[in-house]
Amino acid sequence: MVIRNNLERLKAYKPGKPIEELKRELGLDKIYKLASNESPFYPSHIKKAIISELSSVNRYPQGDCFYLRKLLASKLKVKREQLVFGNGSDDIIIMAIRAFTGTSSNIVVASPTFLIYELQARASGVNVKRVPFNNYRYNLKAMAKSIDKKTAIVFIANPDNPHGTYIHHNELVHFLSLIPGDILVFLDEAYYEFAPRRDFPQSIKLLKERGNIIITRTFSKAYALAGLRIGYAITTSLISETLNKVREPFNVNRFAQAAAIAAVKDNKFIRKCVSYINKEKKFLYRIFTRLDVEYVESATNFILVNFKSDTRELCRYLLKRGVIIRDLSSWGLNGFFRVTVGLHKENAAFVDNFKSYLKIQRHG
Ligand SMILES: Cc1ncc(COP(=O)(O)O)c(C=O)c1O
Repeated sequence: MVIRNNLERLKAYKPGKPIEELKRELGLDKIYKLASNESPFYPSHIKKAIISELSSVNRYPQGDCFYLRKLLASKLKVKREQLVFGNGSDDIIIMAIRAFTGTSSNIVVASPTFLIYELQARASGVNVKRVPFNNYRYNLKAMAKSIDKKTAIVFIANPDNPHGTYIHHNELVHFLSLIPGDILVFLDEAYYEFAPRRDFPQSIKLLKERGNIIITRTFSKAYALAGLRIGYAITTSLISETLNKVREPFNVNRFAQAAAIAAVKDNKFIRKCVSYINKEKKFLYRIFTRLDVEYVESATNFILVNFKSDTRELCRYLLKRGVIIRDLSSWGLNGFFRVTVGLHKENAAFVDNFKSYLKIQRHG
């Protein structure tokens, strides 16, 4: 057996541990998981749809997500063939790398950002050009400059994870004008539903004007279906046809398809959740301000905090008390952590323990 060189040097993505596993490991019966940007809400409106699929589990799901495609295309006002569905939007990132890169090409990413772009590119032997963030925001000028003849895809998470900031419509329009038409711009809009509407890019409109954009969105965040794994791309019919060539034929299971249909039909749930999270986000901002802790205003369901001190120790302290946040030192952001905005009681548990840690640290 020969393991490819590029894989030997690569570390697998380490997701946050499931709540059940942590409870067992730590011997705690309450765990507040604020580490993976999931929704804290149970989407009860999808239960019926899931149950009705149970009697068909012996059959493959629809390979083309027919009914979901029809519904979503009409909601987004795009052609049905412009949509590609994935086992989470991660799946679309993998498809794009498989379909549009080779070992002689490179991708351009901001650094640090969502890790999957780089991990998947490197796993495929594709070079990665990283462009540092500038004051928590994308340095689009530097990204455009770093593009060369071998660049196949530029990845942009908008809003970004872990920064939580977003690129405005006009900034994106200008950036796109600098990018040659044969280079793909991958706009990962996993947190789209949380972003403010006013100056957020109208990416579908931009897609109509240009042939080199892939937009991805997910049901994992605002729609609260992370456990079912379903996301999608909106792109041109040509790119969609190409992505489908590398797509695993039954990549979206029948529960995920049925739940997503029920989820798309229920606008009220999304509105309620987003407004709750925004309110709680403000609660956390107020606490950080009062504690003189620097945070970055976020267009998502998480907050990046510049703790300016050892986050490993802080995370260990919180973990022992059942509160899980994401230490970002392994992302190259020393002294930073990311906290997902949860239910008020979860946020309050984080705040109480965070305060008690600060008290020990500041006053001994
Ligand atoms: C920016 C970004 N893109 C994509 C994803 C993956 O989402 P999905 O669950 O749809 O694979 C995440 C998940 O955290 C994310 O933060």
